[in-house]
Amino acid sequence: MDLEKTVNLKKCPMHMPENWEPPVPAFSADIAAGSRAVSLYIGIQRPSSESLEALNSIIEAVDLPNYDLASFTDRAGHKNYVCIAYFSSSTEHVQWEDSSGFTKWWEDDVHLTADYGLWVERYAFEPGQFETLISSPDGFEGVARQYGESVGPIREHAYWGGMEDRIPNSAPGVLDPTVSEMPKATPSETRGKRLVVKGPKNLCLIRSGQDLTSVKADELAEYNKDIEPHLSAGLAFLGENPQTGCFESRYMTHCNAQGQAIAKTFGMQVFLSVSHLQRWAQFHPTHLAIFNSFQNMAMQREGQFDLRLWHEVAVMDESDSYAEYINCDPMTGMLPFRHAL
Ligand code: HEM
Repeated sequence: MDLEKTVNLKKCPMHMPENWEPPVPAFSADIAAGSRAVSLYIGIQRPSSESLEALNSIIEAVDLPNYDLASFTDRAGHKNYVCIAYFSSSTEHVQWEDSSGFTKWWEDDVHLTADYGLWVERYAFEPGQFETLISSPDGFEGVARQYGESVGPIREHAYWGGMEDRIPNSAPGVLDPTVSEMPKATPSETRGKRLVVKGPKNLCLIRSGQDLTSVKADELAEYNKDIEPHLSAGLAFLGENPQTGCFESRYMTHCNAQGQAIAKTFGMQVFLSVSHLQRWAQFHPTHLAIFNSFQNMAMQREGQFDLRLWHEVAVMDESDSYAEYINCDPMTGMLPFRHAL
């Protein structure tokens, strides 16, 4: 175990039980060695085959350094196809926007009257304000791909509060919500318009992923029967209950450029604060059902399974989250909360 690097995660873990030895290994990206990464979500809502093709040509033309494609059905029932582009620094991201032709395409008024909606959401990851966790170190997912080496096995996991302990800047009160009350969702019309939403300080983003690409048939059948229904129910619960502090809950599936599914899924949620996320994870029956069904499977298989789990959790400063919606359904993403942010 690389203890030096483990210590980098947090000098004084607040929640770790004394003499803690985690029952299973887990790893993290070496965030301390990296800079401020950026994830840019470029989404098309209600895509036709022509508009999908047009977006794919843009994705090809703008020479993205590193990206995933995924799709999901949003809360209004619309299909969305999303390119998630990763940049290793804000400088790399800004240079790419200026030089790639993306900004010219994005600002084209042709989108205002199109039969599709377009949106971008941009999140910046300040090294002291995020953490990643993966169950095996062979290949990172999500923004962690921007941070070469893995760290671990780490000690800061497998107990409630491990997430906070892995965020270097977390300390009592520091990452608390800055909006006193979760605003009510109010539809915001964007037909023929561009609307911008900027998240409040300490907004919290989580992506929680399930890689099933190496899972064999018997384990897959078990996963689909015993775990996935709980995952699907938990993510739907969050989407339908903003009083939990959850602005947006998406259940996304990786796909290829033709929109065909790949056996990797993830939840992507935006919360008012990390403590709202923590509360749901630790106490709500929907996450506990996911958690327990996974523990049962792991126990029955005596730790021998091929499902890979990962997550990234980031807490944003004021300028770290930005969203813009064109011609989208009024309940898309952060739009319904625009009036209060
Ligand atoms: C199949 C899906 C999932 C499984 C099997 C799963 C399982 C787990 C496990 C085993 C842990 C403990 C991790 C550790 O520290 O070693 C955990 C923690 C956590 N999970 Fe999940 N989970 C899933 C989905 C989700 C989703 C979709 C979310 C968020 C929307 C989520 C939020 C969290 C959070 C925030 C923690 C950290 C809690 C803390 O450290 O206090 N999980 N989950």
